[in-house]
Amino acid sequence: MKYAHIVGWGAYLPEKVLTNDDLARMVQTSDEWIFTRTGIRERRIAGEQETTATLAFEAAARAIQVADLHPSQIDLIIVATSTPEYVFPATASQVQDYLGAVRAGAFDLAAACSGFVYGLDMAAQAIATGSIHTAVVIGAETLSRVLDWEDRGTCILFGDGAGAVALKGSSVPGGLLSSTLRSDGSGADLLTLPAVYHNPVPMLGPEYLRNGHDKNTIAMNGRQVFRFASKVVADSIAVVVKKAGLEMEDIDLIVPHQANSRIVESAAKRLKLPKEKFFLNVHRAGNTSAASIPLALCDAIAADKLKPDDNVVFVGFGGGLTWAAAVVKWQVTPPEVSFVDREWRRARYIYARGRSRLRKFGRKIGARLLGSPIPDARLRDADKK
Ligand code: COA
Repeated sequence: MKYAHIVGWGAYLPEKVLTNDDLARMVQTSDEWIFTRTGIRERRIAGEQETTATLAFEAAARAIQVADLHPSQIDLIIVATSTPEYVFPATASQVQDYLGAVRAGAFDLAAACSGFVYGLDMAAQAIATGSIHTAVVIGAETLSRVLDWEDRGTCILFGDGAGAVALKGSSVPGGLLSSTLRSDGSGADLLTLPAVYHNPVPMLGPEYLRNGHDKNTIAMNGRQVFRFASKVVADSIAVVVKKAGLEMEDIDLIVPHQANSRIVESAAKRLKLPKEKFFLNVHRAGNTSAASIPLALCDAIAADKLKPDDNVVFVGFGGGLTWAAAVVKWQVTPPEVSFVDREWRRARYIYARGRSRLRKFGRKIGARLLGSPIPDARLRDADKK
């Protein structure tokens, strides 16, 4: 039996800050309204040259640096996202190329704001069965590109960013102790982001469009989502703690999806836990969907909130409806990373980009020289006729 341990972590937030006061100049709202209802003060917005894949790459590169892994040692890359540039290629394949992770499989995972915990579970189970040895799980979003900036009910909530963890198999007991993954599709209409390539009418009906949701932007029934979230956060934490054979007192830290500090307060009340048990960084990053849990984890580590042998719970919830939770035994201390090591790794990624361009060029030349790949001459002749 192998145990899947988190051995590296990394976060990336774009430089541009959008404050509540900035938003108050765009829609009818105020810093006071947003902060008292959500706990958010500011969020980050991706730059023009940044994409979900570049954000994900930055977070992943930091995670494998902390894990002291060479990109060629990575077996699997999972990117949880609701804002990929393409349906295919997967964002994960772009990240694989940027990292030069030449031996890795890669795929995207769509479970909205629960996506990171889903991905963590998938990767940890693959490690536990021995099918892979290492994995990088990333949550990455550029939600600013799918917001209706005239809808004050949603545009004040979300932000851009990416977070990642590196996982490694070990015979030392610990790592992912338990998990639960859940969905209730009857609540699909409560939080939606229609795909660009098909009309959302068949699933959600004409009433959905009459409500003004006829664009490819996020739409939400805030009150219903709030009610759902407060209940499932509390319920799923209780489920995974029990599954791990632990008591609530054994839990040292809970890193919830950073949607809204009031949802967390309400869940803490249900569980009769002090709200200090929950780590929050929603004030500075807003709701970054699949990226929010690994981003908060990195801030929690930077704030010295985790030490070896601590039990930490991750809990996510969101569109689908989906929700998921996991208990992880924390076993690592952050290593010192030297300047030389950091620069050496950067150089390696420049080499990976060059290598990727060379492969593209080689493919082009090969196609010119070799012509059609169909070996059967009779088929070629038939084509000519
Ligand atoms: N600024 C000022 N007023 C706003 C506003 C804003 N940004 N957004 C909505 N309002 C107004 C509404 O128009 C409404 O006005 P009215 O009474 O004159 O009609 C009033 O505030 C109350 O609206 P309501 O939507 O009922 O507010 P709320 O108290 O439920 O708070 C949310 C709205 C979005 C903050 C809250 O529902 C929430 O946090 N829900 C969960 C959302 C979430 O976390 N989603 C992501 C899950 S992954």
